[in-house]
Amino acid sequence: MKELIIKGNKSTSKLLVGESIGNLGKYLPPGKVVVITDSNVDAIYRNFYRQYPVIVIGTGEHIKNLTTIAEIYSEMLKMEVDRSWFIVGIGGGLVCDIAGYVASTYMRGLKFGFVSTTLLSQVDASVGGKNGVNFEGYKNHIGTFNQPEFVICDPEMLKTLPKKEILSGFGEIVKHALIADENMFKFLEENYTEAINLNSEAIEQLIYTSVVIKSGVVNRDETEQGERRTLNFGHTLAHAIEKCTPDYTHGEAVAIGMTAAAGFSLHLGRITTPDMNRIIALLKNLGLPVNTTIPKESLIAAMQHDKKREDRAINLVLLNGIGKCEVLKMPVEATIELAAALDRIGE
Ligand SMILES: NC(=O)c1ccc[n+]([C@@H]2O[C@H](COP(=O)([O-])OP(=O)(O)OC[C@H]3O[C@@H](n4cnc5c(N)ncnc54)[C@H](O)[C@@H]3O)[C@@H](O)[C@H]2O)c1
Ligand SMILES: [Zn+2]
Repeated sequence: MKELIIKGNKSTSKLLVGESIGNLGKYLPPGKVVVITDSNVDAIYRNFYRQYPVIVIGTGEHIKNLTTIAEIYSEMLKMEVDRSWFIVGIGGGLVCDIAGYVASTYMRGLKFGFVSTTLLSQVDASVGGKNGVNFEGYKNHIGTFNQPEFVICDPEMLKTLPKKEILSGFGEIVKHALIADENMFKFLEENYTEAINLNSEAIEQLIYTSVVIKSGVVNRDETEQGERRTLNFGHTLAHAIEKCTPDYTHGEAVAIGMTAAAGFSLHLGRITTPDMNRIIALLKNLGLPVNTTIPKESLIAAMQHDKKREDRAINLVLLNGIGKCEVLKMPVEATIELAAALDRIGE
């Protein structure tokens, strides 16, 4: 087990990579505890937390809204939860975002922790202190920055995850390697089979390196003023893909977005053709998509209406090599070049 400390503005968070859900009790303060989880996780793992009251929510991005939050507040009122209670979110990014938001707002804030149960949440969602819900079609529009007391990342729990969800996590793992760590990229090239088969040593190493990278960026830029934007690598196009179709998981959309951003970087002479080929080969080896049949015009229109767009400019993250990146402010028309990069890539 490896432990990592994340220092937030208001509090400090402990990330426990390789810890088992069986040891959850060790990290809970004395006093009352309520668990928030989803129905899939609850059906498999209830035995590990059956001694605590549980609030079970549904699954799927469509329930990530203020109605679900209000339902949880009501259940907590019935249970007479007050500020002395501790909230544990047990689930993927959806549960962690919701539980973190509830914990940050109910009675002006309760302490909370997570057991992160998907690969995507272990390597991404549970690190960084962002929580929140969607509102009127805008993703994660309502929320806070607030760190959990702890995050348990138990790689054993990944064994019950559907294959598509595992792949989704790999999208973000490759992203971390591409923006910050060439050695991690090499490790993936050499160990992708072990990684996708969830070999404990390989997967734990990848989760750990990912959280080191993400938490390093977050420690230096908690509220997204600068460096944190590098974590958006591949996401400009990914968000557009997600607006156009529900067919891809987030990580799959990010894989296509990263291919486009790498292709644009190649076009600008920032990376070499062999680097580009390595990126495409790794994504394919992991089973991730590198292109899409969605019409370019639809993608461009979706990118140009991104809520994060400032005036007529966008912040694009481009590569300066494998493991090196840069955030560039570009005119919104650069999205045309970004989408065009996909035309030069085969399936
Ligand atoms: N806060 C952040 O910084 C951040 C970053 C990235 C993503 N997110 C958010 O995370 C969410 C996506 O998270 P996700 O990909 O983890 O999806 P998810 O939480 O919806 O989980 C995916 C599916 O896997 C099931 N599941 C979870 N753990 C399981 C397990 N161990 N075994 C079997 N099934 C299991 C869930 O019930 C669900 O059906 C999105 O809402 C996204 O906005 C937040
Ligand atoms: Zn992402």
